[in-house]
Amino acid sequence: MTTERSLVLVKPDGFRRGLTGEVLRRIEAKGYALVALDVLTPTREALAEHYAEHAGKPFYEPLVDFMSSGPVTAVVIEGDDAIKGFRSLAGATNPTEAAPGSIRGDLGRDWGLKVQQNIVHGSDSLESAAREIAIWFPNLSA
Ligand code: RTP
Ligand code: MG
Repeated sequence: MTTERSLVLVKPDGFRRGLTGEVLRRIEAKGYALVALDVLTPTREALAEHYAEHAGKPFYEPLVDFMSSGPVTAVVIEGDDAIKGFRSLAGATNPTEAAPGSIRGDLGRDWGLKVQQNIVHGSDSLESAAREIAIWFPNLSA
């Protein structure tokens, strides 16, 4: 396995609930390094790029509304197999089904909304990670 970088977002629900530190704690406790970090309210344009694969899906507009509703913490993490490793730390997309022990399983729940608010995003492949890091950290050298 080679060293990988992944783009992690603490989504607006996680930020509002004061869970940024807890997410970063779990990333560091797992052994991944923090490479870059920023707090910002995402623009709809940046989110359209980030979530291009979901354009047209029923949850797309609620997702962009949700993700632009307040600050997020964007983080680049690094480590061997870090992309898969963070997906494992995050747990399943649906927080009701996410395993206890995972970020979404321990800290998330269904709120009966049009889109799942599930605290974190993590890149799902090497290609996604490179694409997403370029969107959120255009000045970060590879
Ligand atoms: P992420 O991209 O945020 O790491 O999450 P993921 O891969 O586990 O999930 P994905 O399929 O990429 O969906 C992106 C985000 O859209 C919201 N979503 N809600 N049916 C729903 O209510 C629904 N489906 C997707 C979630 O916030 C999900 O993380
Ligand atoms: Mg995804």
